Amino acid sequence: MTSTPAPRSSAAVDLDAAAELLRCPLCARPLAPAGSALRCPERHTFDVSRQGCISLLGGAKAVSGDDDDMARAREAFLATGAYAPLRDAVAELAAGEESCGAGGAGSARDRVVLDIGAGTGYYLAGALGEMPGARGIALDTSPRALRVAARAHPRAIAATWDAFKPFPLADASVDAVLDVFAPRNPAEFARVLRPGGRLVVARPTPRHLAELREEVGAMVSIDPAKEERLARALDPFFTPITTREVTYALPLDPEQARALIGMTPSARHLDAASVSANAASVTVSVLVTAYAPREVSGGR
Ligand SMILES: C[S@@+](CC[C@H](N)C(=O)[O-])C[C@H]1O[C@@H](n2cnc3c(N)ncnc32)[C@H](O)[C@@H]1O
Ligand SMILES: [Zn+2]
Repeated sequence: MTSTPAPRSSAAVDLDAAAELLRCPLCARPLAPAGSALRCPERHTFDVSRQGCISLLGGAKAVSGDDDDMARAREAFLATGAYAPLRDAVAELAAGEESCGAGGAGSARDRVVLDIGAGTGYYLAGALGEMPGARGIALDTSPRALRVAARAHPRAIAATWDAFKPFPLADASVDAVLDVFAPRNPAEFARVLRPGGRLVVARPTPRHLAELREEVGAMVSIDPAKEERLARALDPFFTPITTREVTYALPLDPEQARALIGMTPSARHLDAASVSANAASVTVSVLVTAYAPREVSGGR
């Protein structure tokens, strides 16, 4: 089981830890604390918000990301514990516990976990709870979600970043990359992972929340060819180690229904009360796969 310490109440960021984990997104040089900001030798400077979120994207416009209402709904929904079995599966695969406690790459103390499209940091916190001493980085385009991620675990930091740009991290500096319902950048996943590290990808099956989909025709359906596309995109860089299917019936009370709907853009016009009446229970059906990086000849 995942044991997760209580979320950090203060938003104070450990700037030394952040500087150690991150690289300047503009020139890839190391960062150092400069007052309440981070700065590289070229004097590129990145502010840290009062809530503890490091602003690496600055004013750059991200191509996608959750708005404040969606981030708030995600926070409320995940706080109900409805996806705890999924969080446990992601954490166990990130820690390498499916292989008789082999423990993945690196010693427990210096392991680093990167969560891409981390949202509120819920899954990152779960993985850190399973990996004593490991440090975590939450990257996302949504400042509102990252405000929560910055407090999600005492060993986590949170920074704004666009998953489709080169990551603000050194080559081979990460032991586990998490990608849970989030955008993927396989080449960058492979670049930042250490040899022996692992990528953990969670994605919905066509049965996931099917009852909710029936309620709303406009709700994005899950393309059955998605699995094939995922395999094709990851294949040049990764080889699958193991897959878990996390499937269960989730009873929905009106509050959960409201939050679940709120974090799903295409379902926003739905009325939570009618959904929870018509879909009193929804199916959660998610595949979680751990991948190993392929060896790159002549690479790092
Ligand atoms: C479906 S949510 C999943 C969030 C989190 N992994 C979870 O499951 O709770 C997708 C997340 O990806 C983020 N996102 C969307 N486009 C992004 C991009 N280009 N770069 C980084 N994050 C992005 C959104 O802001 C959102 O937090
Ligand atoms: Zn720089």
